[in-house]
This record gives sequence, structure tokens and C-alpha cells, in this order.
Amino acid sequence: MHTTVGIVGAGPAGLLLARLLHQAGIDSVVLEARDRDYVEQRQRAGILEQVTVDALRSAGAGARMDREGIVHHGIELRFDGRSHRVDFPGLADGRNVMVYAQTEMVKDLIALQLAEGGPLLFEAEVLAVEQPVDQPDGAPLNVRYHHQGREQILTCDWVVGCDGFHGVVKNAIPESLRRTYEREYPYSWLGILADAPPVYDELIYAHSDRGFALASMRSATVSRLYLQVPNGTDPADWPDDRIWDELDQRFALRGAPGWRLTRGPITAKAVLPMRSHVTEPMRHDRVLLAGDAAHIVPPTGAKGLNLAAADVIVLARALARLRRTGSTDLLDAYSDTCLQRVWRAEHFSHFMTTTLHKDPAQPPFDTRLQLSQLARIAASPHASAELAQNYVGVPIA
Ligand code: FAD
Ligand code: DHB
Repeated sequence: MHTTVGIVGAGPAGLLLARLLHQAGIDSVVLEARDRDYVEQRQRAGILEQVTVDALRSAGAGARMDREGIVHHGIELRFDGRSHRVDFPGLADGRNVMVYAQTEMVKDLIALQLAEGGPLLFEAEVLAVEQPVDQPDGAPLNVRYHHQGREQILTCDWVVGCDGFHGVVKNAIPESLRRTYEREYPYSWLGILADAPPVYDELIYAHSDRGFALASMRSATVSRLYLQVPNGTDPADWPDDRIWDELDQRFALRGAPGWRLTRGPITAKAVLPMRSHVTEPMRHDRVLLAGDAAHIVPPTGAKGLNLAAADVIVLARALARLRRTGSTDLLDAYSDTCLQRVWRAEHFSHFMTTTLHKDPAQPPFDTRLQLSQLARIAASPHASAELAQNYVGVPIA
């Protein structure tokens, strides 16, 4: 099998890229290691930036999102027993975010791809991307993959690694040219889904003496909630009542002593480690990286999925321009264009994470600094605007 663009991975990056290329008249093949059900059910992100929402609409994948997604015009910060709302449109040029789960976005894109797009193979694990031996420079690349019990080859003019943090495509960039930047965090998140109405009609990011908590949602009847827990936590140590009791304490407001979250059955429970990571460059010759394959952010601030979408929007434009005009100028700029946005989001995610979480080794001095920073955001329109503009996402250059 031969294709113009071989896409490895059918997460948000790979699926959106395939759709955008299809619209530009560029053929592609998507190879995904896992089965369809696994890919569609994997619980992950829930907040779409304006740029992602606009891209899904113009890709023809926005109809259900516009029916079922919930537009949010702000977030609440809760700290020192009080709350402060950050208003997005007023502080970020009218931009907003949309609550629409990654699972739903992925289902919409898979359905479109199977109905109208090029091949999308599930249970097709890529083993390696290789330069063919004894072929002239510029000959198609070989993508070696395992599918239906045997090894097969897909030849491609371009290969895009949308294969997540543990992906294999980045190994096709020579190690001597790859630079990695990394940071790990001394805490994780325990994330739950519960059949309980959201605690509030916007998200609440809470700083507390007991650690961070986040109240998000999936619908008017389903809550998505996260609690900071120590690294290595076993979800089995967190029976449902313990989770609800802890959430009540972390979201407590001074002046509302009896306040409690509405409880309901917990339908999913998982521990998520946190990491910041960037691999540079994001392109080497005809191999490109997009999304988590090139960069990871800690989840505080909801940037991971949106960065993945932004990468492939930039890449689809560059490949469309090559096809239309023969010019590689946008492709040549791909890595630098994306990395500017990536580092902005790395900074913001790190800032949100370290401002809101409690490091187990944190001296009281650092806690006072965190509270001072949060008070500054509450008091200063400039500081709030900085947060709001980063949260709704910077426009693509
Ligand atoms: P992925 O979604 O990881 O997709 C990569 C795909 O490649 C996968 O389907 C994988 O099976 C496939 N693949 C891997 N190797 C191969 C191979 N060799 N051959 C073929 N296919 C392969 N972000 C937020 O903003 N908020 C959150 O709450 C949040 N929660 C998260 C929870 C978890 C557990 C994780 C891991 C991430 C979370 N993220 C969150 C981040 C967000 O989900 C990711 O940034 C987003 O999924 C990135 O999309 P992607 O397409 O780049 O990668
Ligand atoms: C969600 C996840 C996040 O990391 C975040 O900052 C906000 C919301 C969510 O899963 O809904």
C-alpha cells in the first residue's frame, strides 16, 4: 500500500489531521495500534479551546459538539476559603472554551473518517519507520506495521507520528539531532466520573491546605472531578466515600460551613501521573511529529488535546500549500511555528500546576507565595487577563 501521508495513531491529532488532509484533497492512511472501542472509550480531556472548536466546525465535525457541548465563559478559582471568577470574553477578546469530551470528539472524527475518508486501520501497530535501503534520496519511506497476524509495509511520501508519548515514530529522528526537555511532578491526579450533577455551572480550580481539586463536567448529569494524590497512589485505597469527603473539604468555602457536593455513583476511577516533556525538533526530513508524540503538559489548564489539534492544523495547512504551489516554506517552518505555541502552553500548564498544587515537601513560605499569586489574579485585571488569554488559547500564528 502507498499513500502520500502515513499517519501513525488515531487519537485526536491523527484523526483531525486525516480529516483536514481529506478536505485538502491529500490522501492519507491512518494506522492505530488499539481497537476502535478502546480508542473511543479512553477517558481523557474535556475542554476545547476556541481554535479547536473552530477547526472541528470547519472540518465538518462540529454538529454534535454544537448540540451537546457546553460553552463556558469563565472559570472559578477557589483559594483561602474564598472564590474568584475569571471572565473569559471580557478579558480574552470575546473568546470562550467548550466542554466536550475527548471521547466524543474522537467518536465523531472516526465516524467521519470511516464514512468519507481514506483507510483507518485499527489493531495495526507500527513497529518502525525506515528509509528504504538501496533507494535514492527522496524515495518513499517504509512504515513497517503488524496487522491481521502478519507484518506489512506502507510506503509514504510523508510520515506523521501522532502516536502519543510512547510512540515509535520519533525514533526515526536520529538521536543525535533530538533534544528533550523534561520535568516530573511529585503528585498525580485521581480522576473520577460520577453520575451526579456538576457542582457549579463552570469549572472550579481549588487550592487548599489538603492539595488541589478540580470540578469539571461532561453534561448536566455527569461530573468529572480530580483530586491531587501522592505519586504511586492505588485507586483501590480511595473508596467512593473517601473521595467525596475529601472533595468536600478541598472545595470548602469560608462562610458556607455545611456546603457539600451532590454525590452519585462513581463510574470510573483512575490515577494519572503528571509530566512536562518537549522533543525538538518536530520535523526531520519527511518525518513529522504532532501532539503528545512531541510534547506533554501536566493537565492543569487543559492544554494537551488543544496543542495536539493546533499542531495538525498548522501541518495540514503546510501540506495543502505544498500540494497547491509546490512550496515547502510552511513545512520548513512547521517545527518552529508549533514550538512557539508549545512552549507558551508548557509555561502556562507548569504555572497553573505549581500555583495550585501542594508539593509534599513545600515549605509554608511557598504556600504564602502561591496564595499571593492567586490574590493578585483576583485583584488585578492584568493578571486575570494573562490567565484568561492563556486558558482560552493563543490564536495560531
Ligand atoms: P493520543 O491521544 O495519545 O493518541 C495516540 C494514539 O497513537 C493512540 O490511540 C495510541 O494507541 C496510538 N499509538 C501509539 N503507538 C502506536 C504505534 N506504535 N502504532 C500505531 N498506533 C500507535 N489533557 C487535558 O487537557 N485534560 C485532561 O484531563 C487530560 N487527561 C489525560 C489523561 C490521560 C491518562 C492521558 C494519557 C492524557 C490526558 N490528557 C489530558 C492529555 C490529552 O488527552 C492528550 O494531550 C491528547 O490525547 C493528545 O492527543 P494525541 O492524538 O497527540 O495522542
Ligand atoms: C478537564 C481536565 C483538565 O485538565 C482541566 O484543566 C479542565 C477540565 C476535564 O477533564 O474536564
